[in-house]
Amino acid sequence: MEKILVIGAAGQIGSELTLALRKVYGDANVFATDIKDAPKDVKKSGPFQIMDVMDDKRLIHFVIRYKITQIYLLAAVLSGNAERLPLQAWDINMRSLLNILDLAREVGINKVFWPSSIAVFGTTTPKTDTPQLTIMEPNTVYGISKLAGERWCEYYFNKHHLDVRSIRYPGLISYKTEAGGGTTDYAVEIFYDAIETGSYECFLKPDAALPMMFMPDAIRATIELMEADESKLTVHSGYNLSGISFSPAQLADEIKKIIPDFKITYKPDFRQAIAESWPKSIDDRVARNDWGWNHEYDLEKMSKIMIKEIKKKLDH
Ligand code: SER
Repeated sequence: MEKILVIGAAGQIGSELTLALRKVYGDANVFATDIKDAPKDVKKSGPFQIMDVMDDKRLIHFVIRYKITQIYLLAAVLSGNAERLPLQAWDINMRSLLNILDLAREVGINKVFWPSSIAVFGTTTPKTDTPQLTIMEPNTVYGISKLAGERWCEYYFNKHHLDVRSIRYPGLISYKTEAGGGTTDYAVEIFYDAIETGSYECFLKPDAALPMMFMPDAIRATIELMEADESKLTVHSGYNLSGISFSPAQLADEIKKIIPDFKITYKPDFRQAIAESWPKSIDDRVARNDWGWNHEYDLEKMSKIMIKEIKKKLDH
């Protein structure tokens, strides 16, 4: 019986992944933790505790006490916030990963999941259909921490045979829990503003195309990768993963199909430079070949669900 620890269970990915994992492994076997309080359904459907991933002593006690066999480490400072507090972000993103990798090696954890990101790429990387293996010279604090993290994951796999699995997530779009602090987060904010005020001021330029994915696809990808046969996996750093690629102007046009009076204006800030350093689209053939990945949601399908669900949430 797997016993799973989710760290960062109150966050954008964690709040949805915890519920999905509970469906697969049983409510009582998925232990949700976060530094902040979690949404009601995360707390009601199974165990939840406030815990700081930087508290390595408490973490190891927890893992031993509850006989944890798998860890999902989702706590991180995202790209925009990391540029505001570079050293703090580096410390949180790196020390949390190293704490978990070393604890997993010491205790004998079966599998670890850690999210990487399209932020591992930089301005010198080919921008379109970015391959799995390519030039990686990230120039954001977040990207540097993700690239270093990938190298550490592969190091623990090679040196200690620790089964670490990772995905380079594109920008993730969801209606349940907002992310905050990321460069791709405009693609979530825009839906809230479109519904509440009918307009949105975008912090990226109209043509700043980026790789994106609707959360249900990201959750399914994560569980499929974690359940894949180990012998099929050829990547132990982070798998490229592709869903939909679009620009703010294209997303605005899609929203206008449902909210015809919607207006978008542009006031690019420092996040435009971050967006420009990232790929516009991703080649994820390796993930498709190794573990059969296939995305489901396109821009139209995703936008319809986002508007319907956010309207429901805001009681519009
Ligand atoms: N969505 C993240 C960000 O924008 C990238 O992984 O920071």
